[in-house]
Amino acid sequence: MTLRLDGAKLDRAAALLREGRLVAFPTETVYGLGADARNARAVAAIYAAKGRPSFNPLISHFASAGAAFTEVLADDRARTVAAHFWPGPLTLVLPRAPTARIDLLTAAGLDTLAVRVPAHPLAHALLERAGVPVAAPSANPSGAVSPTSADHVLEGLGGRIDAVLDGGTCVVGVESTVLDLSGPVPLLLRPGGVPEEALAALIGPIGRAHPAADGPGVKAPGMLSSHYAPSLPVRLEAAALFPGEALLAFGRPLPDAALYFQLSERGDTREAASRLFAGLRWLDAEGRRLKLSRIAAQPIPADGLGVAIRDRLARAAAPRPQAEPSSPAKNEAS
Ligand code: TXA
Ligand code: MG
Repeated sequence: MTLRLDGAKLDRAAALLREGRLVAFPTETVYGLGADARNARAVAAIYAAKGRPSFNPLISHFASAGAAFTEVLADDRARTVAAHFWPGPLTLVLPRAPTARIDLLTAAGLDTLAVRVPAHPLAHALLERAGVPVAAPSANPSGAVSPTSADHVLEGLGGRIDAVLDGGTCVVGVESTVLDLSGPVPLLLRPGGVPEEALAALIGPIGRAHPAADGPGVKAPGMLSSHYAPSLPVRLEAAALFPGEALLAFGRPLPDAALYFQLSERGDTREAASRLFAGLRWLDAEGRRLKLSRIAAQPIPADGLGVAIRDRLARAAAPRPQAEPSSPAKNEAS
């Protein structure tokens, strides 16, 4: 049984976290599946509930930058971007402090840690009351579409986690930007809620991590190919529709769609990001009900939050590994 808790039950949610239980909670990006990041048993339960490969590390969440920076070695670049974007949709990968209390399992054995201070008021209040660093991947089965509501969380993980704190719909709608500041050159590991341009304006040019291959040892394990996948296949950059396709529209919708979901009529990438995962879920469910065969997505501009949207859609459209019926980890991603 998974409890659904409203904002008035914050103390209960915080107590569950301190007891080593799994509590999903809202952030401004997506819902996270939280556990005490110092508690190996609790963190192992996150990997098990999601079916997540244990080589893919988790982000630790804190109520303040001060708390986050006790676990990592923060340099001037880290302090600068944190001062601008925390609380907010930015995750920093930094060298682990020698005194860090985060369990090694949280970071999948790496000598770096990913830290973030979320902006959602309920997330903030929960972290403050829990008083422990909270490891939290997105609260979905590994490889599936990320959740932006408590209902989404229950659809994917109901019965496998202790509770979900219901804070309504997430406003940003795509995950945090993951910026690696553990080396001399800043690296963008995942585009997300803070646009790269805004970070580069503060700390200069940002490089890209190029994963050589899927599997353990890649620089950014979350950059694995198939991810965010609805069950219907996805086709990108659609300029016209084929029969049997549902439409993910952006701007003026393509004509003759049997079924469509509008991301943003006025072509606003912020609005589109906030509706992306709900739209993919809805098209997938309705499309299957109507026996449609594919989701076709209209082009999204590659600036601002459009970069993160294009990244998520490209992963949703990526070739999928053949699932083995016995394996809980369907896709190799979070
Ligand atoms: O917005 C978000 O970031 C959400 C909310 C809940 O905070 N969380 C989230 O977590 O998206 P997850 O686990 O779905 O994605 C975390 C990403 C993964 O790509 C993971 O590989 C990467 O961060 N990551 C975590 N620790 C890392 C590390 N030490 N080095 C490199 N990448 C790391
Ligand atoms: Mg995820």
